[in-house]
Amino acid sequence: MFKRSKFLWVLLAGALLVSLLVGCSDTQTDSSGSDDDSSGEVSDNGSNSDTIDVGIILPTRDEPRWVQDEQRFRDAIADSNYTTEILFSQGSSANELQNVETLISRGIDVLIMSPHDGDAAGAAAKAASLEGIKVISYDRLITNTDAVDYYVTFDSFAVGEAQGQYLIDQTDGEGVPLYLYAGASSDNNAFLFFDGAWSVLQPKIADGTFVIANSSAAEGLKDKNELSRDELGQILNQVTTNWDPNEAINKAQTHLTSAGEELKGDVRVLAPNDGTARSIADTFSADSDITNYVITGQDAEKASIQYIIDGKQSMTVFKDVRRLVEDAMGLAITILDGNTPETTGAYDNGSIDVAALQSEVITVDQLNVQAELIDSGYYEASEFTGLE
Ligand code: GAL
Repeated sequence: MFKRSKFLWVLLAGALLVSLLVGCSDTQTDSSGSDDDSSGEVSDNGSNSDTIDVGIILPTRDEPRWVQDEQRFRDAIADSNYTTEILFSQGSSANELQNVETLISRGIDVLIMSPHDGDAAGAAAKAASLEGIKVISYDRLITNTDAVDYYVTFDSFAVGEAQGQYLIDQTDGEGVPLYLYAGASSDNNAFLFFDGAWSVLQPKIADGTFVIANSSAAEGLKDKNELSRDELGQILNQVTTNWDPNEAINKAQTHLTSAGEELKGDVRVLAPNDGTARSIADTFSADSDITNYVITGQDAEKASIQYIIDGKQSMTVFKDVRRLVEDAMGLAITILDGNTPETTGAYDNGSIDVAALQSEVITVDQLNVQAELIDSGYYEASEFTGLE
């Protein structure tokens, strides 16, 4: 959980913005290897040096969320004299390690990495750290290693709280079937998301507002508000989607097939992110015994914003990736300039307290898509149909 340090954060925002504007650019690489996973072509941005200042590693190109981050990094570092390289791990820790070794050989001083698997990424972080490279964990925490220097993230516990609260706010009466889904257990965020959702949903399960429809582990813990990591793990094992939309479909179909009439009708669904929410929503809407559903999401992916406009997904939790990229590149530039970055708090990664910057999240549904996503310049209105 984020331990906040006082006062600094206002100062920080200003300093980061300034350093970013003068800072860095992109010598793009993507070895997201649908066909070639860890070696890539470097497109030249006019500087044909072989060395790279900042290496960036993202989990996979197969999810729109991370393609968003790739583009936001490109936008943020378009034209200046620091060089960067972006690589994708394609859901493989072995690829991830190979990518880090490639970046080390390219002479990076800073590594920004969103791990495929928090624990497994420790080896890659260590390899960089032993070379004196500063390691910044991006969005997801690299866990159980002391080889991490900084962490930039969103308030992941608040993401879950927002999802749980939305389901509560859209529910009257009692005995309402609640279907629970979660992210991958290899991702520390999946625990924070579910923990946040449970913190607000559990009292409503205990008082009979909701009836758990698809997890005996959660049912067994329904009278306990604060769960241990192990208890969270027991529930995640039963309802994980592994962040895979197809696995989400299979799980939803299995749950609906085994659900009795009393668990159908008007239901509530905790879906961990947009990619899985769309596939679960499609599965529920295909079941004629489901008369109505309210379903959560996360990431404000374009396809889910269209689903929300069309009434097929109920909400998403907007995480402004521009802000995360700004924080990450701001830290990197401060380090490259030979200074020590300021942070606003810390996260315990199981080995050390990692100095961190954390950004807020925003609930988005049909009522505020325009304000939060169009008026803010995050997306263009022309990218959607049916916007009022
Ligand atoms: C999480 C991330 C989410 C999400 C997910 C799937 O770690 O915070 O935004 O989409 O991974 O990749």
